[in-house]
Amino acid sequence: MSQQTPGTTATQAPQGDAFENLSQENRRFAPSAEFAANAVVTAADYAEADADRPAFWAKQARELLSWSKDFTQALDWSNPPFAKWFVGGEVNAAYNALDRHVEAGNGDRVAIYFEGEPGDTRTYTYAQLTEEVKKAANAFESLGVAKGDRVAVYLPMIPEAVITLLACARIGAIHSVVFGGFSAEALRSRIDDAEAKLVVTADGTYRRGKPSALKPAVDEALAHDGHTVQNVVVVKRNGQDVDWHEGRDHWWADTVGAASAEHTAVGHDSEHPLFILYTSGTTGKPKGILHTTGGYLTQGAYTHKAVFDLHPETDVYWCTADVGWITGHSYVAYAPLINGATQVMYEGTPDSPHQGRWWEIVEKYKVSILYTAPTAIRTFMKWGKEIPAKSDLSSIRVLGSVGEPINPEAWMWYREVIGADSGRTAIPAPIVDTWWQTETGAQMIAPLPGVTATKPGSAQVPLPGIAVDVVDELGESVPNGSGGYLVIREPWPAMLRGIWGDPERFKETYWSRFETMYFAGDGAKKDEDGDIWLLGRVDDVMNVSGHRLSTAEIESALVSHPAVAEAAVVGAADETTGQAVVAFVILRGDAVDTGDAIVQELRNHVGKEIGPIAKPKTILVVPELPKTRSGKIMRRLLKDVAEGREVGDATTLADNTVMAQIAHSLKK
Ligand code: PRX
Repeated sequence: MSQQTPGTTATQAPQGDAFENLSQENRRFAPSAEFAANAVVTAADYAEADADRPAFWAKQARELLSWSKDFTQALDWSNPPFAKWFVGGEVNAAYNALDRHVEAGNGDRVAIYFEGEPGDTRTYTYAQLTEEVKKAANAFESLGVAKGDRVAVYLPMIPEAVITLLACARIGAIHSVVFGGFSAEALRSRIDDAEAKLVVTADGTYRRGKPSALKPAVDEALAHDGHTVQNVVVVKRNGQDVDWHEGRDHWWADTVGAASAEHTAVGHDSEHPLFILYTSGTTGKPKGILHTTGGYLTQGAYTHKAVFDLHPETDVYWCTADVGWITGHSYVAYAPLINGATQVMYEGTPDSPHQGRWWEIVEKYKVSILYTAPTAIRTFMKWGKEIPAKSDLSSIRVLGSVGEPINPEAWMWYREVIGADSGRTAIPAPIVDTWWQTETGAQMIAPLPGVTATKPGSAQVPLPGIAVDVVDELGESVPNGSGGYLVIREPWPAMLRGIWGDPERFKETYWSRFETMYFAGDGAKKDEDGDIWLLGRVDDVMNVSGHRLSTAEIESALVSHPAVAEAAVVGAADETTGQAVVAFVILRGDAVDTGDAIVQELRNHVGKEIGPIAKPKTILVVPELPKTRSGKIMRRLLKDVAEGREVGDATTLADNTVMAQIAHSLKK
């Protein structure tokens, strides 16, 4: 394991090269007059929010949500960094996402068009989804789940995932979704940390046409004594055989299916915990990011409406994120339904059964708003524009991007190939690049599509009511044309309220680098217009295909293998995935370097410890690792090696022959 002190955030200056390249970007794309004239949000929101930020959010909270008890104060910031939003208010997330739309006469509107990977489909109207959620709420309660209890969710992208989340929210249980690509070991540690009472899972799902199991990982995660789980509800999805634990395991169809469809939602305190979502940080152990109800729902709903220019009566919205990530929480499970939108949900991969699957889905459901990640766009670029050209994409009118910086080439391709056919405006669909994090809960920096003249590769402007800045080492705001660290200066409604079970870690992780400001961990620059360009993480967090991975976590997995003495992991630039995991390992004295065999074994070991998404793309066996005199691994130098560059300044190394030793060993 590397020698870094747990909890410290190693920062390095944002890369100068990225800054230079982006400085040359001067294309601008203003919204069409037609788009601007019909936009649901105008520039007036910026001025209104600037005049009185809490009042602006209070207005949004009252307009976008139905409160069972009105709040008395917009923001309580008397004990920073612990914020309380909409103090004294009571609200039920599921009622707001479902029942009220039915009560308003929109029960027949489609809430979810589900497209399974094998081609099966299901459509849920708001009335039907409300009924399913009520049944699930009753079923979970009958299994002993009460307000405040934790429910672990390990499901594929099927409607039951959304139903489960909303059923938990309805009864005040706190959901903790674990992405289906995480291993049994990762699932176990998250179940244990949150002390979950119930697990909701499926027998499995489909991946590239083949069944892919989930239930065995749950069985394995619960194979130890002392866990807190009393019941497991299993959705039958792919019909594969599963082991069954009588008394503990229950089929979804038998419990939820048999439950009453009558369930009255009661309001929960605005600050009642809604969910925990684990994310990787700079230390080995994932953090349980805690979100609460009123503020989270308000900012999610506002941004979803403003950034995507949502017209719920006519738009068909599709966010391709898995519900296992924050994007799937905020912009699949909650905000679209709060806003009464019609959305598409797709279970599988983009290339199943062929590389045109997504575009067929767009054509089939007439998707008008598409929200996806740069890594997907770059993959489609690689596959070629003839593939989307086979489908009618003229329904598209807004394109969103999230998860990692989008390079101008990918941005232009997205616009010209996917957005150009936009049938509803004379010019291509606007692209909104949205910067935010698991911790921020909702979008923070993004253009408004009817207002902002967009720039390829930039998220550009803080949203109304959000106070973002770029500062130098000392926390001073940098002038236009300069780079530095991205910070958030004022509390925002959807901000994390803490780390599950560890308030001190919350302060130390986010609020200690620049005392009164939230430090996001990203480097950024302001261009000459003051627009913000994200430059990637400046700490030891990697971003692979928009998935957040910790170098320390993967190092820790590697050194838990008996053959490994030490490991250092870096994120190396990768054309498609943004970054790729590259690991440098020193084998133990008694371990034999079996070449490819040991590399394969170590990759699988990481897959088992964390999940297939964390498997290093490359593992290099080396004799030494470059360290400073205080024992800190100089990842910068390893990154140079991994990216095939000449190694940079190595004068602070404790042993200045190390880089030569590494170079020599890699030549062999
Ligand atoms: O580095 C930023 C990058 O993703 C990180 C947050 O990851 P996660 O919590 O998994 O949430 C991803 C989805 C919201 C950020 O610290 N990131 C996210 N969106 C962008 C981005 N980097 C550049 N541009 C973006 N639009």
